[in-house]
Amino acid sequence: MKIPAIHPDTHQKISWDIFILILTIAITIIIPLIMVYQLPLNGLLLIFDFCISMIFIADILIESHTAYFEQRELIRHKESIFKNYLKKAFPIDLLAAFPFFMILSLFPSPLMLQIAFLSNILRLAKLLRIGRTIGRIRNSKRLNPSFIRMSLLIFWILIAAHLISCAWMSIWENPGALNPLNAESMYLRSFYWTVTTLTTIGYGDISPSTNLETIFVIIIELIGAGMYGFIIGNIANIIANIDIAKSQYQEKMEKVTTFLRYKNIPHDLKNKIGDYYDYLWDSRRGYDESSILQDLPKPLKTSVSLFLNRGIIQKVPIFQGANEEFIKEIILNLQPVIFTPGDSVVIKGEIGYEMYFISRGSVDVVSEDESVVYATLGSGSFFGEIALLLSAPRNATIKAKDYCDCYSLDKDTFDQILVRFPEFAVKIREMAEKRRAETEEKQKKNK
Ligand code: CMP
Repeated sequence: MKIPAIHPDTHQKISWDIFILILTIAITIIIPLIMVYQLPLNGLLLIFDFCISMIFIADILIESHTAYFEQRELIRHKESIFKNYLKKAFPIDLLAAFPFFMILSLFPSPLMLQIAFLSNILRLAKLLRIGRTIGRIRNSKRLNPSFIRMSLLIFWILIAAHLISCAWMSIWENPGALNPLNAESMYLRSFYWTVTTLTTIGYGDISPSTNLETIFVIIIELIGAGMYGFIIGNIANIIANIDIAKSQYQEKMEKVTTFLRYKNIPHDLKNKIGDYYDYLWDSRRGYDESSILQDLPKPLKTSVSLFLNRGIIQKVPIFQGANEEFIKEIILNLQPVIFTPGDSVVIKGEIGYEMYFISRGSVDVVSEDESVVYATLGSGSFFGEIALLLSAPRNATIKAKDYCDCYSLDKDTFDQILVRFPEFAVKIREMAEKRRAETEEKQKKNK
């Protein structure tokens, strides 16, 4: 019978992986405890061992039929899947599926029992799959990677501490000289000893009394010193990366502030620059959209730009009902720009090299001396088109009333668009003509 290759990302496969992971974690916790408390190798334990082996054998069958990704390509070819599995996870999975207790119970002796328990530890190697399984869970992509790293770090620390505690319990000869400890207290005291030793705190209230204990303590202390450094380094790194955008932004702010102070920039200007950066952070988390997009291939860039700029397309009336090709052409050539309150975006009489579309905020169209306001333009409006259409100097000054999120379109692209899309050319010419007449009339009146 031909079994089709299993897709690694199906709901059922991911659920199975999670089940295997939970089972392995349970074994990791239970087996060392069985070993330390020297539970008898009875029927219940043998059934437990048998069930685990059966589940792990089923896992080998499933894994050896699961397609895998190679450089983002899904490999479904049976032979390749099998070879890949044999090379990678099979040795670990085979060891984990071995019914150690059952086989070794056939040759009962205290030494065999020890071997059976120790061999069971090999099953823990399956835990190494944890990273892969978490990566496959779709929702995990929505979690902050630093949060996943931190959780995994804590998980490994707890597992290591549990194993060390169990090992300490198994060699600890005099746990409660005066008051014999019960099972829970003994585990708790051992765990406490492990944590104080690993974190290099070492209160010394629990200390080695035999040679074996002393050697064990020396080893754990040496591991602890290394592990402590490793953990602290990792935590510092994770915390620094929790909000990488924020830390990069703060770094940039520090550089800017130092520069402004060094150059003795006036206080007002410094405040304005500070406000601008605050706005940049509030409105786009400090990211410069165009620098991120420039690395993408054109089709991907178009899709992302269309998504990011869908707001402006919906807002600008002259874009409404335009064909898709026109929208794409415009979108790909729009450059985001921010103006702060009071900025002169365009100055009357200057030569125009670009026009602007307002996404957020508003501007005043004013006379040269800024005494007369001809019009106020808000979100969805555009300005600066007259100079481009007529190749004439700007016919008015434009002042930002508040923070303005705009998109600029340069003259060359604008000219090309006019030629390729005559309908747009007609609309924008009509609008420009109307505005020019209106402003000229007002200018005459005010003379
Ligand atoms: P331009 O001449 O390139 O630069 C100044 C801009 O102000 C102009 O293009 C128009 O976009 C805009 N403008 C001028 N007069 C008006 C008006 N009456 N109403 C709206 N916008 C105007």
